[in-house]
Amino acid sequence: MKIHLQTPEEIRPQIWKELARASLDRHHEWRTPVLACVDANGLPDARTVVLRQVDAVAGQLTFYTDSRSPKVAQLMTQASAMLVFWSARLSWQLRVRVACSVITSGLEVEALWQKVQQSAAAGDYLSPLPPGAVLPLGGAADAETVNAPAPAHSFAMLRAQVLQMDWLELSRDGLRRARLSASTWKWLTP
Ligand SMILES: Cc1cc2nc3c(=O)[nH]c(=O)nc-3n(C[C@H](O)[C@H](O)[C@H](O)COP(=O)(O)O)c2cc1C
Repeated sequence: MKIHLQTPEEIRPQIWKELARASLDRHHEWRTPVLACVDANGLPDARTVVLRQVDAVAGQLTFYTDSRSPKVAQLMTQASAMLVFWSARLSWQLRVRVACSVITSGLEVEALWQKVQQSAAAGDYLSPLPPGAVLPLGGAADAETVNAPAPAHSFAMLRAQVLQMDWLELSRDGLRRARLSASTWKWLTP
């Protein structure tokens, strides 16, 4: 059933509720947004990521990644990024302008790593090769590389501070769009 909320006071908390649900429910369509940012040459880059934590009070969204991945280098150079979420169930698109910080050490990272280490995803953060490394012809890493001692984990958190949201609702009754920040709300033409 489609929700048809009317006022900013109803819509804003529902957006955050859906984000929080998505961080807990692997079947929620907002679980896997696209994170877009720019590289050192100002060229756009984008990729799918899994939404892991949501803090509505702080206005923060958290993702896990490999500290050696290109996106980390990009975000360390230019923290400004966009997240794009689409849900057919809600008929809602959400474009979120964020400032991303990369957290590679500290109590929070180590505590999370203890958990991730027990999971099937642990290998992703222990590979001797960084994400995006070119493999030799044939596609497989050579025995020397594969047998190289595993590095210390390269698990990192991306913490995205929400600056602004662009919410778009598709509906038979017409499109509705709004631009909102923590303290502002503007209805826009779709
Ligand atoms: C459904 C799905 C979920 C993904 N989740 C993540 C994620 O949470 N973190 C991550 O670093 N990469 C994730 N990836 C892989 C990225 O999309 C990307 O291919 C990889 O991180 C390398 O990106 P980069 O070269 O821009 O750093 C996911 C890919 C898919 C298809």
